[in-house]
Amino acid sequence: MSSMVNGSHDWPQNVGIINMEIYFPSAFVEQSELESYDGVSAGKYTIGLGQTRMGFCSDNEDVNSLSLTAVSRLVKKSGISYGDVGRLEVGTETIVDKSKSVKSVLMKLFEDSGNSDVEGVDNTNACYGGTAALFNCVSWIESSYWDGRYAIAVCADIAVYAKGSARPTGGAGAVAMLIGKDAALILDRGLRATHVQHVYDFYKPDMSSEYPLVDGPLSIQCYLAALDKCYQLFCQKALKKKNMSCDLSTFDAVLFHTPFCKLVQKSMARLALNDFVKTSKDERLAKFPGMDKFLEVELEKSYFDKEVEKAFMTFSKDLFEAKTKPSLNVATNVGNMYTPSLYGGLVSYLCSISPEELAGKRVGLFSYGSGLVSSFFSLRISSDIAPMSPLSMLKRSLNDVQSRLESRTKIPPADFEAIMQLRESVHHKSPYVPVAKPDDLFPGTWFLGSVDEKHRRHYDLAKPIQNGHA
Ligand code: ACO
Repeated sequence: MSSMVNGSHDWPQNVGIINMEIYFPSAFVEQSELESYDGVSAGKYTIGLGQTRMGFCSDNEDVNSLSLTAVSRLVKKSGISYGDVGRLEVGTETIVDKSKSVKSVLMKLFEDSGNSDVEGVDNTNACYGGTAALFNCVSWIESSYWDGRYAIAVCADIAVYAKGSARPTGGAGAVAMLIGKDAALILDRGLRATHVQHVYDFYKPDMSSEYPLVDGPLSIQCYLAALDKCYQLFCQKALKKKNMSCDLSTFDAVLFHTPFCKLVQKSMARLALNDFVKTSKDERLAKFPGMDKFLEVELEKSYFDKEVEKAFMTFSKDLFEAKTKPSLNVATNVGNMYTPSLYGGLVSYLCSISPEELAGKRVGLFSYGSGLVSSFFSLRISSDIAPMSPLSMLKRSLNDVQSRLESRTKIPPADFEAIMQLRESVHHKSPYVPVAKPDDLFPGTWFLGSVDEKHRRHYDLAKPIQNGHA
């Protein structure tokens, strides 16, 4: 695998994602049942937010166990050894220890291989950490420090909100990505746009609680404003650096960080509005028939303009159905996984069509983490669909996602709420032995076995995977 020769090597080409693994909890609550349990109007969570089911963890899973599961499965499915990995980056906003990184816990998996020469630590800024982890891995492979080995980026979070309007936008899960050259999903080199800003839209100042402080409407405005900025800058850079004029037709698929699916549909409409605004007035009416009454619209004043939103959602409906909806399967069925959300979208999109249809497609991706950090970047799917190609391997690796989604256990809302209360009451408790049963987890899942009197966490593996299936 290594092309490294005496510290010098050809600059690696086609760097990106070789393989992916997704983990989500085995338990879910039905959003329609939650609506009636919470006493809100029928349709508020399912139609208003676009959420179908929400995955959640009991007291025997934490961010370390989620990451252990995703990384161990990725390594196994990829047929590599832990010695083949030279960088491991974590993205998370679920903090179990203020000093010791999740990355350091993951080194437990590397012990038998004897490989401790593994760069990278944790990346934290709300839902953005996974993207920072991915970018760091790609940068390492493209740098003078690369030693020819693979990198792994893993993002994992448990997204839980206090009881109230934000709770149905929770979720949990992890995505691990194997990064290297000659990848199945090749990041467009030299082209990405970032917007970072100091704002308190969502943050976690209370160390004794898992719950964030969130200003819902402000977080939505910040998300949409960051999308505007990143998309505009990406298009400017595409023209300047690649001589490529960019609009929605540039992308075969557009994927978004997904706090809830309705916001993503609005985001597609937002990109159509951006295309409309940047088109010269003479051309606008030809390219955007029926939108003449919006000729004077200003982006900054339209975040909550229902008339503009509705008109551009209608205008972009077919674009949304074709380019974005296939990426929402995990998001609507598991919920907001925070850092893995965008990459759960990528998994959903890859699962939605055949290798023949995926080959050569260009995908735009928008990553957002409150606080705020955001990026718009793009990747190209390899055109090589030979049976042993990275793309075919990646597709095979994700074969079990739908069956795993369907084999989860539905938990009644009252039991879900009791588990949320349990998590609240035992948060950071020490010593502690979780009450949830490992047998309820998917086979092959790492879980929290105990926390000792010094807050040291001990992990075990639930019953092993049989016949390669979890
Ligand atoms: N049938 C159909 N639609 C309904 C119904 C119904 N019975 N009832 C309400 N709705 C619609 C509303 O009209 C609204 O739609 P609109 O936004 O298109 O107007 C939608 O459902 C939501 O209803 P609201 O009353 O606005 O919801 P609420 O204020 O209770 O909370 C919010 C929504 C703000 C998203 C909340 O869940 C939250 O704070 N979530 C966490 C923050 C978040 O996810 N922010 C996004 C970016 S930051 C991040 O990633 C964490």
